Amino acid sequence: MSAIKPALMSDEAINSHAELAKSLLKQMTIAEKIGQMSQFMGHEGVIPEYLSLAIKQGKVGSVLNEVDVDTVNELQRIAIEESRLRIPLLIGRDVIHGFKTIFPIPLAQASSWSTEIIEQGAKISALEAASSGINWTFAPMIDISRDPRWGRIAESLGEDPFLCSTLGVAMVNGFQGDSLANKGSIAACAKHFAGYGASESGRDYNTTNIPENELRNVYLPPFKAAAEAGVATFMSSFSDLNGVPASGNEWLMQDILRGEWHYPGFVVSDWDSIRQLSIHGLTANDKDSACAAVTAGIDMEMVSTTYHDYLEQLVNEDKVNVAQLDVMVSRILTLKFELGLFSNPYTEPASYPQLLDDSSLKAAQNAAAKSCVLLKNDQQTLPLSTNGLNSIAVIGPLADDGYEQLGTWVFDGEAKHSQTCLQAIKQSVGENIEIHYCKALETTRSTNQQDFGEAVAKAKQADVAILVLGEESILSGEAHCRSNIDLPGSQEQLIAKIAQTGTPIVLVIMAGRPLTLEKILPQVDAILYAWHPGTMGGPAIADILFGKVNPSAKLPVTFPRNVGQIPLYYAQKHTGKPATQTSFVHMNDIPNRAPQTSLGMAATHLDTHFSPLFPFGFGLSYSTFEYADINLSSPAITFEQTLQISVTLTNTSDTAGDEIAQLYIRDLVASVTRPIKELKGFQTVQLSAGESKIITFTLTVQDLCFYDRKMQFRAETGTFQVFVGSDCQAALNCEFQLQGSTNEQ
Ligand code: BGC
Repeated sequence: MSAIKPALMSDEAINSHAELAKSLLKQMTIAEKIGQMSQFMGHEGVIPEYLSLAIKQGKVGSVLNEVDVDTVNELQRIAIEESRLRIPLLIGRDVIHGFKTIFPIPLAQASSWSTEIIEQGAKISALEAASSGINWTFAPMIDISRDPRWGRIAESLGEDPFLCSTLGVAMVNGFQGDSLANKGSIAACAKHFAGYGASESGRDYNTTNIPENELRNVYLPPFKAAAEAGVATFMSSFSDLNGVPASGNEWLMQDILRGEWHYPGFVVSDWDSIRQLSIHGLTANDKDSACAAVTAGIDMEMVSTTYHDYLEQLVNEDKVNVAQLDVMVSRILTLKFELGLFSNPYTEPASYPQLLDDSSLKAAQNAAAKSCVLLKNDQQTLPLSTNGLNSIAVIGPLADDGYEQLGTWVFDGEAKHSQTCLQAIKQSVGENIEIHYCKALETTRSTNQQDFGEAVAKAKQADVAILVLGEESILSGEAHCRSNIDLPGSQEQLIAKIAQTGTPIVLVIMAGRPLTLEKILPQVDAILYAWHPGTMGGPAIADILFGKVNPSAKLPVTFPRNVGQIPLYYAQKHTGKPATQTSFVHMNDIPNRAPQTSLGMAATHLDTHFSPLFPFGFGLSYSTFEYADINLSSPAITFEQTLQISVTLTNTSDTAGDEIAQLYIRDLVASVTRPIKELKGFQTVQLSAGESKIITFTLTVQDLCFYDRKMQFRAETGTFQVFVGSDCQAALNCEFQLQGSTNEQ
């Protein structure tokens, strides 16, 4: 396999940066090398004496969480003018879904299934962040996330390796641009390497146990794709992977990342995760933690100071050798050269476009509109036609809350810039329709129902009630996990009360994760799942509600009926006793003293259906689409050939719309059992009313490969099924053969 190169860099550029790094390295003392490997915390506009001194002494390679541009410039000045070797600093910040202009949370953006939306969002975020002197962000988060209890699912791109890889690369491209040296490009960071999303019981920081085969087939592909796309850095995960915490996991960092993937960038630890190696019980003390992390190949330590405190001692004791440090430090210096920091370390904010300018807000609104998933729309409740309406009730704690709609990981965005649903609905309908607003609950967690009477009265008077409910932003994100993912507080009771009025209910949900909605589903007429939609959430939602925008988003993650079904994801294995409709018996229907083996004997629960509430890939539109006539370019291919799959896609409605058509495969027989379906392609197709188009997907043998029992990545001959449709339950399918000699890729 060829070595992975930084994005779009010529060999000469790579060599020259590496050469520059090498010659600088020759002049460095051990302490200065260790300095480059140390990242310190910023102090929000203040430079404490110890930090300034450490920079002067060459003991700091990077500062995180300083966004005041004058302070950043001063930090760079100290490094450039007052340290011996004049090495500029990397300035890191979590710009997860926007800097000032807040885009929808990453899980929402993933619902757009659009590389353009994701790339543009990251590009605008990078430009805004760069204007404050930030040159490095800790995104994309590409942990495969299959547990909605886990708060960090909000930051993820969902459950599927193919979708996550594709969108993760788009985000890297958006942050890094064509060249890291370009104005407005910042270094990206693929995190959290690896397996963090499998935290047991969806509790953050918890143990992960992932068999190597599953790790390679499911959790690692997005990281490999990001490495191949030239992501500048990786971050090691907090979590314990199969007994060895990632930040001390030599196999992961050396064998896989360097040995197999030849990744040239550097790895930063997660916050304090090197010191935590002893808390995990992997090491006895901080000195051993530093040794374990360096040996594993963690190039820079975030926040904790075990490198700063013990690395020199470890070198003197011959436990760590200098050649090893040189490789690590040269990776860090190389990035600083690539970013052009040696020639221009300072930031001139006036030379950047204005923060939150019109084009950024427009892009954020478009991203939000493309991220809202229409889950239910009985009797075409939506779109609402302003012609027939006299009054609308807008109810709920999230209807007019500019802060909560921003979602998790918003350090720099401000509620004052948000446009809420209430504001946007008022603007959309003009003067002729009355809007009756009632918050009904103080927060999404409130149980005080004293305002329910008012909410019910307002709903009664109205032609339609728009309920804006969900989760506040603090209920998802890092360390914000839930064991029960129903709508919190008394929101379900609120829905029940409003439902009794008989007024049609449009439920808009803002949340950082899939919630369990089975109970409330029958009580509402329409559900628009807006996730946390960001600064421009209000207008984006209003445009969908009133039909200015036809929704097209699709779920990047499965919605379970209840938490007992978790883990529930579409790419499950078939099992030896798969659940079927005929084998399914609900416990309420079991006769008394039924014999032990009289039930279906299949992989089901007795108290809930085995299917999800909403499957991966699902999302309605105001248009309706039909798939027909699946055709293959050939009934069989060899290892050298590709396969074209075409279907006729028709918009069977009188509304123009976009459909995200999805291609899945199933490898029917393999030496390692394969999932019942695997996404291998998708495309957005624009269709006017009544229009038909033949759409074509191409499969290569690479798409059929998987890691086998010997952890070889290869395809096996045999029969494959291929499915095309509007979600993972796509039924339209046919079969083809892969023939010829097996080819080790
Ligand atoms: C998170 C990372 C984040 C880092 C820096 C950690 O707690 O796990 O995702 O980038 O903090 O803020």
